[in-house]
Amino acid sequence: MAESFAVKLEEKRYLPDPQCRTNAWVPDYSQAYGEFMRDPEGFWENVARELVWFEPWDRVREWNYPYAKWFVNGKLNITASCLDRHVAAGRKEKPAIVWHGESGEKRILTYEALQREVMRFANGLKSLGVGKGDRVCIYMPLVPEQIVAMLACARIGAVHSVVFGGFGPDALAMRINDAGAKVLVTADVGYRRGKTVPLREIANEAIRHTPSVERVVVLRRESPGAGLDPAREVDYAALTGEAAPDCPPEVMDSEDPLFILYTSGSTGAPKGIVHTCGGYMVGTYYTARHDFDIKETDVFWCTADPGWITGHSYIVYGPLAVGTTVVIAEGTPDYPDPGAYWRLVQDLGVTIFYTAPTAIRMFMRYGDEWPAKYDLSTLRVLGSVGEPLNPEAFEWYYRTIGGERCPIVDTWWQTETGMHMITTMVGEPMKPGFAGKPIPGAVVDVVDRTGKPVPPGTGGFLVIREPWPAMLRTVHGNDERYCAYWKTIPGCYTTGDLAVKDEDGYIMVLGRADDLIVVAGHNIGTAEVESALVSHDAVAEAAVIGKPDPLKGNVIKAFVTLRVGVSPGDGLTDDLARHVRKSLGPVAVPAEIEFMDRLPKTRSGKIMRRVLKARELGMDPGDISTLEE
Ligand code: WTA
Repeated sequence: MAESFAVKLEEKRYLPDPQCRTNAWVPDYSQAYGEFMRDPEGFWENVARELVWFEPWDRVREWNYPYAKWFVNGKLNITASCLDRHVAAGRKEKPAIVWHGESGEKRILTYEALQREVMRFANGLKSLGVGKGDRVCIYMPLVPEQIVAMLACARIGAVHSVVFGGFGPDALAMRINDAGAKVLVTADVGYRRGKTVPLREIANEAIRHTPSVERVVVLRRESPGAGLDPAREVDYAALTGEAAPDCPPEVMDSEDPLFILYTSGSTGAPKGIVHTCGGYMVGTYYTARHDFDIKETDVFWCTADPGWITGHSYIVYGPLAVGTTVVIAEGTPDYPDPGAYWRLVQDLGVTIFYTAPTAIRMFMRYGDEWPAKYDLSTLRVLGSVGEPLNPEAFEWYYRTIGGERCPIVDTWWQTETGMHMITTMVGEPMKPGFAGKPIPGAVVDVVDRTGKPVPPGTGGFLVIREPWPAMLRTVHGNDERYCAYWKTIPGCYTTGDLAVKDEDGYIMVLGRADDLIVVAGHNIGTAEVESALVSHDAVAEAAVIGKPDPLKGNVIKAFVTLRVGVSPGDGLTDDLARHVRKSLGPVAVPAEIEFMDRLPKTRSGKIMRRVLKARELGMDPGDISTLEE
């Protein structure tokens, strides 16, 4: 891995409307951060008090490096904060979930209806013998029942493991086996680009290799409904139809597991990241409310799927703990046409919109005419997550979608962190390319290999210095892999990302440390070169890899997709090389540029450079279960 290295930082600032700041939950970031640093435990304790606890905690935090406990001995059930407290406090009729189907169908579940559905399904699960601590695998399309199933598990203390509906049978079987799931919840089909995705068939294929699964609950969407195997399969509607309507929340300890979620490591098998009840609830509630500045009348749309951590924390638990209206939509952003998302923003009056850079770049590629057809004036706050938001994409998002009116919160975090750790809070000056500063509640730093902070303008490893409430507690069945996070750099949690701070403490995330290319002794982040390429008018997306070279150690190879209407005509390769040279210098110029129709990506939108590299070098690409197509 690299030592620290110099990074050229561009200084551009956007100042949001001062009103944003005046009205924000956190009107003064520095003050809020200062308060947190003076008394970290008091800070989190005040947040926790806003939520429902059956019994209070004895201590806010217990830190036994590398193991942390939060809200020690507190008793709670996260669904009491996400559902019951709202039903009791006047949000009974408020839409909790607004679902939109690919072909225009719409379903609304109020907080009361959601609570009722959750309790029924919770009782249904109980009737199948599911109890506290049992694992339930949820393999569903993006429908309200997916969220109901998650919350129903939480209601009875079962541990859910949601597997994204885009995974195939092997990936599903591996995850079921690792978690030892007793019940699998699925649907006959999902809908994607007007076609059906045969989830039940895939699930049936998977469970031939999963001895732990006793029963499979099937949500039937197609008519006539598929015939079920009575020995193993249970109809979702029949199960909930017969179930009693009332299901009091199971009393959970703060440190009882809430869910397992698998994330792909850079090497080896996917890791089952374990999150627990108390700290996760407090961390996601605080960040959802404060980072997106959610107010009572907001309509919040996070375009992720609950199969990813973004969906867990910012579709389900965070926003529902806040009590907001959450929009979900099945299908893809450009189906039936590239205006699909903007039409929905207009029709549902979405006020807060949270998506990924890959989607933003896709929209850029389709051009401004699509968003221009719709009234996007309800939008108030825009969010980004999952990858560095390159300055080009930032500016397009800011201008074309946000009408130069909406703050952009570029949130940096991970499956492991459970909650946002870095962003630019609503109302603070924004710097394109920089995620921002540590949120109040997080102690983040950029350091060298020994854990020593590096000066501004110098790249290094992004680490977290103190435990935080929503942090992972272990890797399921592999505590050693958990400990590795805390032992790579002494005393810190190593995120695996490279980053650089500027003089004001803003953090720019450069990409994964394993995405670093050493060219002739210079360390070059793939993200930097990609960002430089994407800032060229012709380029939609770029991915770069290192290719072994006898002379230079490595040379850079770039894979590039072009904007709609642009073709890789004469001189474009040279022009791109010149462009990169101008912004990053000669060492960063790709030795080769290949034009492609599309780049290999994970279903959550991250470019899989590993796959490009394997193809280029004729190697085995390793585990590609997360590859989209
Ligand atoms: C990357 C997604 C730059 C980063 C929530 C991290 C980001 C990994 C950002 C975690 C961001 C996420 N800017 N990079 N705003 N957000 N990343 O576990 O490399 O799917 O380590 O969690 O995504 O991905 P994960």
